[in-house]
Amino acid sequence: MYSRKALASSPVVRIAPSCGQIDLGPRDATDPVEWEITHVKAKVLDAIKQSAAIPSVPQVVTRFLEIMQNPEFDYDDLVRILAADAGTVGEILRLVNSALFGVRNKIVSLRQALTLLGPMRTRSMLLGRYLVDSISTKQVHGLDMKYFWRRSLTSPVVASRLAEKMSGERREVAFIAALLADVGIAILAEALPDRYRHIAERYVPGGEPFDDQDELAAVEMTHGEVSAMVLSHWSLPETVTKSVNLHQSANPGSDETAAIARILNASDTIAQVLCEIPCPENASEVCINAVAFAGIDVDVLVRQLPHIENDIEELAAVLRIDVIPSNVYAQIALAIEDSLASA
Ligand SMILES: [Fe+2]
Repeated sequence: MYSRKALASSPVVRIAPSCGQIDLGPRDATDPVEWEITHVKAKVLDAIKQSAAIPSVPQVVTRFLEIMQNPEFDYDDLVRILAADAGTVGEILRLVNSALFGVRNKIVSLRQALTLLGPMRTRSMLLGRYLVDSISTKQVHGLDMKYFWRRSLTSPVVASRLAEKMSGERREVAFIAALLADVGIAILAEALPDRYRHIAERYVPGGEPFDDQDELAAVEMTHGEVSAMVLSHWSLPETVTKSVNLHQSANPGSDETAAIARILNASDTIAQVLCEIPCPENASEVCINAVAFAGIDVDVLVRQLPHIENDIEELAAVLRIDVIPSNVYAQIALAIEDSLASA
């Protein structure tokens, strides 16, 4: 767990998708302080790359992501790329026929599945699926993986529900960004165990909060920066990478990316509360403040909270993750309603 703090004006960290070169974003080579920051980060990134901690996805998914980078991509190209890999076709058909999408008649063709899911939801689900595969088989030092996954599934469900007024495309951006925002924690815990373990051990229910400054002191990078780097490596759109990079910032700005970053911040705070099964009265205050930070009416949260647990269970089934059922969500919704009524 961690607390919200402003991310100092650190550069956006990127790895060029095709060649794997490290790119630390805009920088001023004449500024010795800026040069020192980028130089130190480059060394950390090298350590991460050499550790093989960055989750790998099959080449067919990489090609799929590259094609989707072009806003005018050809739908037939997506179908052709995916159709070439029987394993991925099977995975997509399993996803589309899962309870999460509630289709009545069994879908048996890839084209039909893609039409129903849409390319963006297909992208989110495939990445989520392969990410789980890649991380869950690893030894991640000091990290409570059950808690990590429960929180990593709760946050995107909350984010997409909070984004109910946004367009379908932006809801999907919020979903995938929230699903992957904390992948940097698992990567840092695996790549730099000696330096990051004391932080990872705090990412547990009731753990001591940590913030950007704690991470910068330990490994010179925040987990948001590392997550953004990996998502850039996977060719995800800039709105996703930038909002993930800013997801802990107290001042993300006021543009479109900032609106998503604020939702990520709120959804992560609420996910943390929901995953720690706290006293509902205290939880309601934290949740009310979190949605206010995102500029969202608290009524949206009250209306959506009772549906969240079901969404999480279905998402967990799709991604083949075990999560412990909990009835805390509806209780917190009631506590928030009580707080609002007595305010
Ligand atoms: Fe985070």
